[in-house]
Amino acid sequence: MLCVSAILFASIFRECSARPDKLVNNRPIIGILTQEVQDPDMKPYGRTYIPSSYVKYIESGGGRVIPISSVEFLNGRCLCSLFDRLLLIGGTVDLQTSDFAHAAKIYFRLALKANDVGDYFPIWGTCLGFQLLTVLVAEENLLSKTPAENISLPLNFTSEAASSRMFEAFPPELLTALSQEALAANFHHFGVTDQMFMRNEKLRSFFSVLSLNKAENGVVFVSTMEGRKYPFYGVQWHPEVNRFQWNPLYSFPHSRNAERMSSLLAEFFVNEGRRSSHHFIQAEEESKELIYNYNPLYVANFTSYEQIYFF
Ligand SMILES: *[C@@H]1O[C@H](CO)[C@@H](O)[C@H](O)[C@H]1NC(C)=O
Ligand SMILES: *[C@@H]1O[C@H](CO)[C@@H](O)[C@H](O)[C@H]1NC(C)=O
Ligand SMILES: *[C@@H]1O[C@H](CO)[C@@H](O)[C@H](O)[C@H]1NC(C)=O
Repeated sequence: MLCVSAILFASIFRECSARPDKLVNNRPIIGILTQEVQDPDMKPYGRTYIPSSYVKYIESGGGRVIPISSVEFLNGRCLCSLFDRLLLIGGTVDLQTSDFAHAAKIYFRLALKANDVGDYFPIWGTCLGFQLLTVLVAEENLLSKTPAENISLPLNFTSEAASSRMFEAFPPELLTALSQEALAANFHHFGVTDQMFMRNEKLRSFFSVLSLNKAENGVVFVSTMEGRKYPFYGVQWHPEVNRFQWNPLYSFPHSRNAERMSSLLAEFFVNEGRRSSHHFIQAEEESKELIYNYNPLYVANFTSYEQIYFF
């Protein structure tokens, strides 16, 4: 259930003036692609949504959020006046035929191109976002059944994790905890098996696999990956739940190590955003798009979330 609402994160800024490489953007903004509402109980409140946990995750890392609405994009609200190269929409769970997938594909290509010309453009995918990244890179859907619904697991790190960017700032004792304690919250039915991943030349050459996990059916799936060349990151699990989801009916680890892990990954991705030199030309343009223009709704009495932003 939670996986359906996972998010593709991406930095989205208008490139207006190239800044010298050495300057750091200390006002990073992360765009979050909204998802189409599918749960009938949620339908009265909006057409698309973002669980607040993702927003808080970014904010806790020192970044600001801009929601990227799929529906408005489809209705022709081109953000061209604000973003000269990026249009993002949310969508359904179908990773190939949905508008979400089509838009993400356009966006993904733009991000590739931007990075190719030295214009730093990070993407983060959580759960469904992770799966989507694999589809975009492989150009086919390689998912198979890897059920791990409401289960927290220790990460089985590969040898590549030790030299990864994602875990670079992790103190050794926290990495050990992450590999021994069930801190990574899984909510998915599908995934990419390690065999499928390694057999696929496109995936294998694009991403380093940083961790593996075993699903309830015994199948081993890729749980964490990062781009070898591109600043693209994927987690099949949910690092935002550790600090920002509390429903006692679900397996959301809240130990000190779990919270620290979640903090460090949020900081990591926001720091990636700091390396982007994109920014809005006008402060007013920026203000109009920021998440602060919206209020989250209390939804704990009818969803597994505490709060959701509806659009
Ligand atoms: C961890 O992954 C390795 C392959 O990298 C595998 O041989 C090992 O059995 C896995 N361990 C667990 C506990 O899943
Ligand atoms: C989720 O997992 C937790 C911990 O294992 C368990 O107590 C709870 O009943 C499960 N919830 C659901 C909805 O399956
Ligand atoms: C959930 O709680 C809100 C606020 O208390 C209330 O307005 C709403 O009707 C409740 N929804 C359901 C489905 O119980």
